[in-house]
Amino acid sequence: MADEQTWDPERYARHARFVADLGMPVLALLDPREGERILDLGCGDGALTQKLVEIGCDVVGVDGSAAQVAAAVNIGIDARVMDGHELSFDREFDAVFSNAAMHWMKRPDEVIRGVKEALLPSGRFVAEMGGFGCVHTIETALIDGLAARGIIDTDISPWYFPTVEEYRIHLERQQFRVDYIELIPRPTPLPGDVSGWLETFAQAFTGRLPEPERAPYLDEIRDVLSTKLCDNEGQWTADYMRLRFAAYNSA
Ligand code: BEZ
Repeated sequence: MADEQTWDPERYARHARFVADLGMPVLALLDPREGERILDLGCGDGALTQKLVEIGCDVVGVDGSAAQVAAAVNIGIDARVMDGHELSFDREFDAVFSNAAMHWMKRPDEVIRGVKEALLPSGRFVAEMGGFGCVHTIETALIDGLAARGIIDTDISPWYFPTVEEYRIHLERQQFRVDYIELIPRPTPLPGDVSGWLETFAQAFTGRLPEPERAPYLDEIRDVLSTKLCDNEGQWTADYMRLRFAAYNSA
């Protein structure tokens, strides 16, 4: 049985702080106003949620990771452990906001249904997630590395990276009016070696291997990726694509 993805707030802060730092454009798209009640779907350790609190919003954060929720609660966020596929709110939010979380939720209809139920009739859903082609180079190397070890599974990736057309259909099917949706290439400089990124985000792949085989596998992936994602100065850049949208409750 493969190990599940786990979230270590300290490791996340070290290797992935940029995820919240780069969330400012979707926050601007949300255009939060003081006093609005906002649900942050996949709040992680609350770094971006805190910005909403500072603006004067009444914010609830939810995340599937108890460790990340504990880190968010620690900085004063009203955060709760909840699977994004099983949101349980009833018409109480002016907006549902999400940054860099929904690509971990592979059943979009369930997620969007919960968002819909959480929103007031005039509410909006503003989010950014990995979009079609996101980390394709990294994902391909991870899959190829497992295939070379005899592990072939078409559903091995923990990520969901939809196209604009695909996600628009999911939103419209549940009576959202899509005002804006765009796929944005965003090559993302990493704070260190890609190994830190792999340790933080690629546990669904490494977890397929017995413990002693994991480090050699990751070293091999790093070598494969070094010719593609690392420049002569040693700067690693991940091939991120973002899907950003603003949609309005229309029923
Ligand atoms: C992200 O946090 O944006 C991300 C994580 C894993 C794969 C791709 C993107």
